[in-house]
Amino acid sequence: MPYRLEQSLLEKLLKARHVMVLTGAGMSAESGIPTFRDAQTGMWAQYRPEDLATPQAFEQHPARVWNWYEDRRKMVRDAEPHAGHLALVRMAAILGSVRIVTQNVDGLHQLAGSKRVVELHGNINRSKCSVSHRPISREWLQDSDEQPPPSPYVKHGKARPDVVWFGEVLPQEALDEAMAAASHCDFCFSVGTTSLVQPAAGLPLLALQNGAALVEINPVGTPLSMHASQCIRGPASGALSSIADQLTGLLNA
Ligand code: OAD
Repeated sequence: MPYRLEQSLLEKLLKARHVMVLTGAGMSAESGIPTFRDAQTGMWAQYRPEDLATPQAFEQHPARVWNWYEDRRKMVRDAEPHAGHLALVRMAAILGSVRIVTQNVDGLHQLAGSKRVVELHGNINRSKCSVSHRPISREWLQDSDEQPPPSPYVKHGKARPDVVWFGEVLPQEALDEAMAAASHCDFCFSVGTTSLVQPAAGLPLLALQNGAALVEINPVGTPLSMHASQCIRGPASGALSSIADQLTGLLNA
């Protein structure tokens, strides 16, 4: 079984009262959703995500940004949770208190069965009014052939994805929940993230300040690696599956 958690950390994990798992785009890579650092493909190859996922881009080219998200929504609709998502559900059943804080907007953790997932950057499957930020139903969107559909609430408002764009603030409630999870956990995993984008990247460091053990799962090193008790240089699916198997084995020992 590759990607094993060191025995001392496995025992600490089994005794942990609160576990926080921070996930990034690498957690969805094996479900077929490209990460932010993967090159864009097709007609979108000419753009960088930073040039599309901003309020300014939506203001200047609403149809382009809307259609980029429509293509990503189709990709997410076709995506399935992988063994790593399912391993986190297994771990939550064994450990009791596992809080997933994700930077991903694809909803795959929830689809796998994880509960109380904190979505730091929103969810691509939801839409909202570009002015009032009130939620817009899928039915309203389907009844309109405009791209993007108009807002049902505000004149000149438009439908936009309910995700955090570059330069926008994170949803306060999600941020508060994430900070609380990081402050109270005694074991933290950081899975599939470059650990570059704040405030998400600061959460594992907050956990460390509170004495939590930190394990990073990523095929390559990140700025967080030097702070981790163990760096598992492997894919999210294989590493998390191995850890869930180790926990089950320890429980049945
Ligand atoms: P990135 O695309 O920046 O990084 C993906 C990370 O996943 C990299 O460190 C890869 O090495 C790692 N990775 C790739 N395949 C993996 C696998 N199979 N298993 C485990 N890890 C793997 O994605 P994030 O770090 O999530 O923000 O990016 C953070 C934020 O930057 C995003 O949420 C987005 C972007 O700006 C917003 O949209 C607001």
